Amino acid sequence: MQVVLDYLKRNQARFVAELCDYLRFPSVSAQPQHKKDMRACAAWLVHHARQIGLEARVYPTAGHPIVVAKTPVSAALRRGKPRPHFMIYGHYDVQPPEPLDLWKSPPFAPRIQGRSIYARGSMDNKGQNFAHLKAVEAYLQTGTPLPCDLTFVIEGEEEVGSANLAKFLKAHRAELRCDAVVISDTDIPSPKHPALAYSLRGIIAFEIMVRGPSRDLHSGVFGGAVENPAMALARLLAQLRDASGRVTIPGFYDDVAPLSAYERKQFARLPIKDRDLQKLLGVKKLFGERGFTPAEQRSARPTFEINGLTSGYQGEGSKTIVPAWARAKITCRLVPNQKPAKIRELVCRHIEKICPPTVRLEIESGHGAEAYLVSPKSVRARAALRALQAAFGCQPVLMREGGSIPIVNDFKKILGADSLLLGLGLPDDNAHSPNEKFNLDCFAKGQAMSAHLWQELSRA
Ligand code: BES
Ligand code: MN
Repeated sequence: MQVVLDYLKRNQARFVAELCDYLRFPSVSAQPQHKKDMRACAAWLVHHARQIGLEARVYPTAGHPIVVAKTPVSAALRRGKPRPHFMIYGHYDVQPPEPLDLWKSPPFAPRIQGRSIYARGSMDNKGQNFAHLKAVEAYLQTGTPLPCDLTFVIEGEEEVGSANLAKFLKAHRAELRCDAVVISDTDIPSPKHPALAYSLRGIIAFEIMVRGPSRDLHSGVFGGAVENPAMALARLLAQLRDASGRVTIPGFYDDVAPLSAYERKQFARLPIKDRDLQKLLGVKKLFGERGFTPAEQRSARPTFEINGLTSGYQGEGSKTIVPAWARAKITCRLVPNQKPAKIRELVCRHIEKICPPTVRLEIESGHGAEAYLVSPKSVRARAALRALQAAFGCQPVLMREGGSIPIVNDFKKILGADSLLLGLGLPDDNAHSPNEKFNLDCFAKGQAMSAHLWQELSRA
């Protein structure tokens, strides 16, 4: 084990240079003009995985390709008793970098400043999956036997809903069957607080369209006698939450699992103070459902959020119209026990009920996923905590995450495997925002964590 850790320590500078190569691909899954870059990035990954001693190949899909890389299994090992098998899941696709003018350096020209590397995808998720690749490289290149078989599955469609991955899992069920999936694609509160996340929120996405007159109208000539669609939509949306953010849709909270005393105690151990959070986010004042702390509100309570709101004239100056339509992009985050289909139904019926008769309503459904929750006390969870402790040199915390990784539910359903969420991101890493970064200490500690993890998990 020590030779593995020494190898990691010795090679940090090269690892960082290689990560920069990985980050130079503008692998933006949402934008069709980057289709070629997606393929090039996948090919680079395969080439790199082969170089470090893995058996790797690209699988094309109806969308962007999936990269699979496995530790080689020798004939002697194959004849021996079956070994544990773990999957490492990650994604090489990234969020669109826009707005570009807010980046201090170009998003696909990685820049190192202090202990951080700035680039789109540095934290979400290239830096995090690369840390695992480097840990496995250390085993392979030092000739240190791994106590288990490992398969990397690094996809190119996580940021657009993983539409083709479930089908791939079904088609390759036998070879992908594993004892657990390890995912580093979440945050930790600070480098002094490594964390095992044991829950993710689910999600439902939809768009609301409210149509009024058949075209934009002169607001002086007709205003007053027709409903303004922007106003109708604003009134409608405003009725869906109370002043503290609690969702007012009947039945919305019916299935929400209450927080146990044990969980609330874990939340209370998280180091981030309300004032720090307020400062980090640049808000005038925090906000949120009464009876819950911000940490609980952010990860263990469901939400109703407007992600985008459009209507009428958006150009410079004034234009006196009654707009023909208004549109809102919405997502609700869901928590364990809430069923996406049921919540979608409740939300749609309620919106239809309260929509005024003066406008036409259309609701378009988008993606959806259940929340995820596993026991933080399982044998494997405890093994993961030991690996975190060994790598970070301090006691890890248990937390629930507010974001979503929809595919974890398919790992459970299709492969029967639980996911261990061992994130390496920091709250100020700017995921999905301009100036995304990844902390180089988190990168190095993540490699060490991965190296320890295979020992701890295989023993467990
Ligand atoms: N890495 C994130 C998910 C995440 C981030 C979970 C931080 C917990 C903490 C992932 O890449 C992501 O952005 N997921 C999307 C999924 C959605 C598009 C279905 C999300 O959560 O918005
Ligand atoms: Mn993301």
